Amino acid sequence: MVHYKELGLVNSRELFKKAMAGKYAIPAFNFNNLEQLQAIISACVEAKSPVILQVSKGARKYANQTLLQYLAKGAVEYSKELGVAVPVVLHLDHGDSFETCKSCIETGFSSVMIDGSHLSFDENVKETQKVVDFAHQYDVTVEGELGVLAGIEDEVSHAVGHYTRPEEVEEFVKRTGVDSLAISIGTSHGAFKFKVKPGELPPPLRFDILEEVEKRIPGFPIVLHGASSVPQEIVDEINKYGGKMENTAGVSEDQLRRAASSAVCKINIDSDGRLAVTAAVRKVLFEKPGEFDPRNYLGPARDKLKELYVHKIIHVLGSAGKI
Ligand code: G3H
Ligand code: 13P
Ligand code: ZN
Repeated sequence: MVHYKELGLVNSRELFKKAMAGKYAIPAFNFNNLEQLQAIISACVEAKSPVILQVSKGARKYANQTLLQYLAKGAVEYSKELGVAVPVVLHLDHGDSFETCKSCIETGFSSVMIDGSHLSFDENVKETQKVVDFAHQYDVTVEGELGVLAGIEDEVSHAVGHYTRPEEVEEFVKRTGVDSLAISIGTSHGAFKFKVKPGELPPPLRFDILEEVEKRIPGFPIVLHGASSVPQEIVDEINKYGGKMENTAGVSEDQLRRAASSAVCKINIDSDGRLAVTAAVRKVLFEKPGEFDPRNYLGPARDKLKELYVHKIIHVLGSAGKI
């Protein structure tokens, strides 16, 4: 067993308490490799923001669990080396079972999500409660989910989502003992969130559901998944340099800012980072077809990624200067 405190990590409890009081949200950025981690940490150092490093089951498989554990420890040290000790949470994204959550807790994660949103209410309560009972013995925080986002959650694909039912949240939180709750108010995963015709605006988020949830569990940390904005200028850059991405759509930054100033304490962003990397790599390889040193295309990708994260922290999440 490697406890997260040995790695210099923190759980999300204090960060959410401060975010709730200060009306901002903590960034939860997914990572799978060294360059993404460097970009996340250097952005958070520059903007003086706490951060949640998110690892999906797919990321664990891709990068190797042991390497990820030491990368997270390295991230803590790296931030100090850059001059600002940012609080770092290592979080399992979309944990699919008690066993996956347990294994993460035993290998240094300070926070886990158990995603039972596809189960019946009672089964979701049972599975979540089991994870909470185990996690809390080690002071690891747990995120649960009620409601299903459309799009792709790890290996589970949902063609159609359904909104969170506010009348269920109080009982869920009470019975499970979770520390935060992901809800479905109209966001979805990936770069193709909404089917909109050119010139049309995506449907607004269901702030009425969020407000109803807040009324029923006041002061309880809410999590927003599927919160990439899919910036058109990045998609245009991908297409300009040989990519083919059509009919993309994301959540507007205005709506995310509004969510961040409510009970939403954690905002998950993965796809926007993937787009930024893809655009930068394509540009270099298009302009310099003879380039074959990965540092010369992954380096610029890392710079773009950092720029994107700094923008999100300052202009979307509001977590700059909150360390
Ligand atoms: O919500 C899912 C995250 O974007 C992680 O995606 O399962 O492809 O690593 P992944
Ligand atoms: P995006 O696909 O919108 O970036 O959402 C990421 C996410 O919710 C990770 O859990
Ligand atoms: Zn998600």
